[in-house]
Amino acid sequence: MAKLFERISVRGITSRNRIWIAPMCMYSCENKDGVVNNWHLVHLGSRASGGAGLVMAEATAIRPDGRISPWDAGIWNEEQVEAWKPVTEFIKSQGSLAAIQLAHAGRKASVYRSWSGDGAVPLSADGWQPVSSTNEAFPEYNTPRELSTAEVKELIGQWVQAAINSVKAGFQVIEIHAAHGYLVHQFLSPLTNHRSDEFGGSAQNRARFLVEIVKGMRQAIGEEIPLLVRFSATDYHPDGFTVEACSEVARWCHEAGADLFDISSGGLITGVKIPVGPGYQVPLSQEVSDQVDAPVSAVGLITDAKQAEEILQTTDIDIIMIARLSLRDPYWPLRAAHELGVQVNYWPNQYTRGTYPAN
Ligand SMILES: Cc1cc2nc3c(=O)[nH]c(=O)nc-3n(C[C@H](O)[C@H](O)[C@H](O)COP(=O)(O)O)c2cc1C
Repeated sequence: MAKLFERISVRGITSRNRIWIAPMCMYSCENKDGVVNNWHLVHLGSRASGGAGLVMAEATAIRPDGRISPWDAGIWNEEQVEAWKPVTEFIKSQGSLAAIQLAHAGRKASVYRSWSGDGAVPLSADGWQPVSSTNEAFPEYNTPRELSTAEVKELIGQWVQAAINSVKAGFQVIEIHAAHGYLVHQFLSPLTNHRSDEFGGSAQNRARFLVEIVKGMRQAIGEEIPLLVRFSATDYHPDGFTVEACSEVARWCHEAGADLFDISSGGLITGVKIPVGPGYQVPLSQEVSDQVDAPVSAVGLITDAKQAEEILQTTDIDIIMIARLSLRDPYWPLRAAHELGVQVNYWPNQYTRGTYPAN
């Protein structure tokens, strides 16, 4: 049997296969209140009925100023928790695991979704001043305000509350977004963290924000729920965050209660060259796997069943995440099973012919 279709368990939770849907922002909370709607239900739901082992909801803001755009999903209040419930229920009814990526955009907050405008949303429209580890702006975005030490500590509590809210909403797996140049990544990288308090300076201090979030979440959500961290394992800059530094931080996170590391790259700064190509982030996942005694996933231009299977067969990578491929084909996991000659018992009953005549 193809490894892609072997089950995998993390803590108390088992995934029916190793194809997981990567988090994808939908920018579709039309009332700009972070409350998800039918779009999110249909989008995530169709990927669950498409056979994925796990469906991860988009980067979901832990508080209002953590949204990338005014249309982002949130999970900081009760109305948002209630709106997520039918989404998680449907995902689970299809045999998939319901996961959520918790996020704060930091200095990359308050920008337009691509079909509503360009660049930063000004304060005079529905925009806001972002907060960050630093007061240096991301090029052409609103200038952030550097968080005080007390505010950083308060934020850790808000991340933990968002994890508690996620469990209430029915999510079975939680991922912390520490990648792509968003707030946690801004703390991790020496390029965007010049702080002189306990959250800046040494590698350990720069990682403190994340490690404290992991510790707080693990304590709050108990032992059953898997906690994942998505990293950008390199800034593609000689003075930036590196795969060695990432592996070290992943070890600290593992000790603090994180279970699996979802390895991506880039997004912190502009003007760097990213070697984009088929499976281009796989070597980074393998390197983290070599350094940390925990499962890892790979993502990025994995677009073919044989390619996905080969990655699992020839590396120590445990999970394949797909994003754009699943936008083109929500049923890709079922297609991949067919291509690899695997019989799965999770074709939706509604899509089998049953006892009706063929035509
Ligand atoms: C529409 C879209 C939205 C995305 N939103 C997120 C997000 O919310 N969080 C995140 O970590 N990555 C996000 N990504 C990145 C994907 O999760 C994934 O890492 C990337 O697209 C590479 O995988 P792929 O080649 O399979 O698309 C997004 C990608 C796309 C295409």
